[in-house]
Amino acid sequence: MNVGIIGVGYVGLVTGSCLARMGNKVICADIDTEKIDKLNQGIMTIYEPGLDEVVKAGLAETTLRFSDQIESTVEESDLIFICVGTPSDESGAADLKYVKEVAKGIAASIHRYKVIINKSTVPVGTTRIVQKIIEENMPHFHEFDVVSNPEFLREGSAVEDFMNPDRIVIGSDSQKAIGLMTELYAPLKAPLVIADSASAEMIKYASNSFLATKVSFINAISNICDNVGADVKKVALGMGYDKRIGFEFLEAGPGFGGSCFPKDCKALIKIAEDSGYDFRLLKGVMEVNEAQQELMVSKLKNLLGGLKEKTIAALGLSFKPNTDDIRESPAICIIKGLLKEGASVKAYDPVSNENAKKILPEIKYEKDAYDAVKGSDGIIILTEWDEFKWLDFEKIKQTVKNPLILDTRNCLDPQLLRKSGYIYQGVGR
Ligand code: UGA
Repeated sequence: MNVGIIGVGYVGLVTGSCLARMGNKVICADIDTEKIDKLNQGIMTIYEPGLDEVVKAGLAETTLRFSDQIESTVEESDLIFICVGTPSDESGAADLKYVKEVAKGIAASIHRYKVIINKSTVPVGTTRIVQKIIEENMPHFHEFDVVSNPEFLREGSAVEDFMNPDRIVIGSDSQKAIGLMTELYAPLKAPLVIADSASAEMIKYASNSFLATKVSFINAISNICDNVGADVKKVALGMGYDKRIGFEFLEAGPGFGGSCFPKDCKALIKIAEDSGYDFRLLKGVMEVNEAQQELMVSKLKNLLGGLKEKTIAALGLSFKPNTDDIRESPAICIIKGLLKEGASVKAYDPVSNENAKKILPEIKYEKDAYDAVKGSDGIIILTEWDEFKWLDFEKIKQTVKNPLILDTRNCLDPQLLRKSGYIYQGVGR
């Protein structure tokens, strides 16, 4: 099928290149010409495992093209995906200005039947808003449908998630559009959830907010575990065997971050408020999350008897492993807290040092974990990158001022570390 993608950010690039991999003819369009030039040369604009190969294969097989021409992309495509950002505005609501701009641009170029698909995470009702904008801005009427098709990709495993989805959600009342969307996704053999567009939009917010609730729930449990001497890892394991609960998203830690959970929880609270419902449960989820980040700073402060003039080695900056994304990263928030308490910080992340420098220029960045820990009063693990699990902590002990670790991701072995003379503290264990 001929597919156009408008907006070559994270979602657009993964969606476009994977649809090309499935045999479709895909054009990914964006107004950022520099980005388009890079991608046409096969140079990646984001760090995402496996994406490089998929993009290069698409370019080589000419199933994938990048363009800065929105108009011709719309003209050549039967299915057009809107994949632009929806940042939070001051009230927490998703800002739709990019979606609306793109809708107007699409309207101007429709000359035959098209399906316009909203992949961006948008408030309930946006599909209808896009429908109206297109209707109003079309120079001559042509038949078209607007469909909601939320994405469930996780950064760090987005290609894998796209190719093996748990489900595909299609929100539309048009049988013609549903038929085309079903045909597009048929090779993935995933369960299809066909719904009205409002329900499809709600599925996305409800899913992310529910997962965020799981994380805040287990973080709250971890704090009680700390108080009563229980081990949250064992608790999560025991809970997870219950099929109704499941094992996933029960890792206690420094709180959730990233470009989605915090933004989508805030947006759903706002959607609820606007609809006349006070979503106290989700407000609590956000409160627990903020408190969890602050708690990590207090934990380290207590362990060291104060943070003033202490040198802290911070390992990990991204909001989770296998991504260079530091948006709303608990690591950044915790480091800011450490600085506020008078500590100095030496940080290392396998791929995010450069991104972090832009928003946190006041700390020192090291080229590897061993350099970061040298001479430190305490080590704080902030992202559970695999390479931190394999560090030689015997060697590290010889170079630190004080063998002390706060493992906010529970990714190290407490027994081994304590046996080799470290003061170790995790979260809820
Ligand atoms: C999330 C959803 O998982 C995707 O399904 C969704 O498509 C995406 O948002 C989106 O809306 O675009 P992502 O933000 O990439 O994906 O990250 P997650 O893997 O969900 O992790 C979110 C945060 O929760 C991270 O900070 C992570 O460290 C934290 N987390 C996750 C925990 O603290 N504990 C857990 O057990 C799981």
